[in-house]
Amino acid sequence: MSALDVAKIQRDFPLLEREVNGKRVTYLDSASSSQKPLAVLDAMDHYYREYNANVHRGVYTIAEEATAAFEAARAKVAGFVNAAHPHEIVYVRNATEAINLVAYSWARANLREGDAIVLTHMEHHANVVPWHILAAERGVELRWIPITADYRLDLSNLAELLDGATVRSVKVVPGKIVNFVVA
Ligand SMILES: Cc1ncc(COP(=O)(O)O)c(C=O)c1O
Repeated sequence: MSALDVAKIQRDFPLLEREVNGKRVTYLDSASSSQKPLAVLDAMDHYYREYNANVHRGVYTIAEEATAAFEAARAKVAGFVNAAHPHEIVYVRNATEAINLVAYSWARANLREGDAIVLTHMEHHANVVPWHILAAERGVELRWIPITADYRLDLSNLAELLDGATVRSVKVVPGKIVNFVVA
């Protein structure tokens, strides 16, 4: 396989053709708002022009088309991430909603005093607040991975942080979040 062709990938993103202050845009805030490639812009345009309707609720043609497209996308995503079944793919609006969903459903049902959640000092507050609430409610302990002087995660004491623990879940949201739940 050839090396990553950055110029080719860049051409998929119209926004990256823009110039700001006389320079091509280099966009580094993807954790906040991801830029959309042409394939996504085209699909969204097609959707809004042709079959924008409520999914799973309407019995008219365009609602059924919207539902079919919605579920086809779920199956495609499942294949992409190698999920065993499309129903494992849950759509949410953003990372904050995803974390809260896990914290308020799985974590609240499964974690109790004696369990610990390992976070890092790099977390966005979207990945801190739900765990503080859980810690206060359930007596779950929060453990923290520190940052080195050159702003990297200091994993030198990871073994200590996980000492005596069984890792029950490792959660990774690309570009955003790393959590370990230990018991
Ligand atoms: C690093 C990081 N993590 C998490 C979030 C929260 O993501 P969302 O806006 O998808 O809830 C943001 C949003 O700016 C972020 O920049």
